[in-house]
Amino acid sequence: MQGLLEEGEDIISEFPESPARDAALIAAAQKVEHYEMAAYGSARTFAKILGQDEAAEMLEETLEEEKAADEKLTEIAESVINVEAAKSQQEEQPIALSKKRSGGRQRAAG
Ligand SMILES: [Fe+2]
Repeated sequence: MQGLLEEGEDIISEFPESPARDAALIAAAQKVEHYEMAAYGSARTFAKILGQDEAAEMLEETLEEEKAADEKLTEIAESVINVEAAKSQQEEQPIALSKKRSGGRQRAAG
């Protein structure tokens, strides 16, 4: 876990602010979530095997919270990547896009 946290700190110190750095930081955070998911999932299973039902239930709840955090990070990462992809598309094809806009159907008012 210490190494994973250092990895995130390295990304912050070595790269300038950019959508790419944000994506790398999200990936680093997801590594932490996956580490936690493995740990809580294993502990939950051990608790079940040992007949510690209450502990197993609490560990399962925590595991679900970690999964939810991971899914949220995936949503953020995908939206960052989509925004970045849209930007680079516009930068690569400004003429094609401006032709498309002027030649396209006009929007209805309102
Ligand atoms: Fe977490």
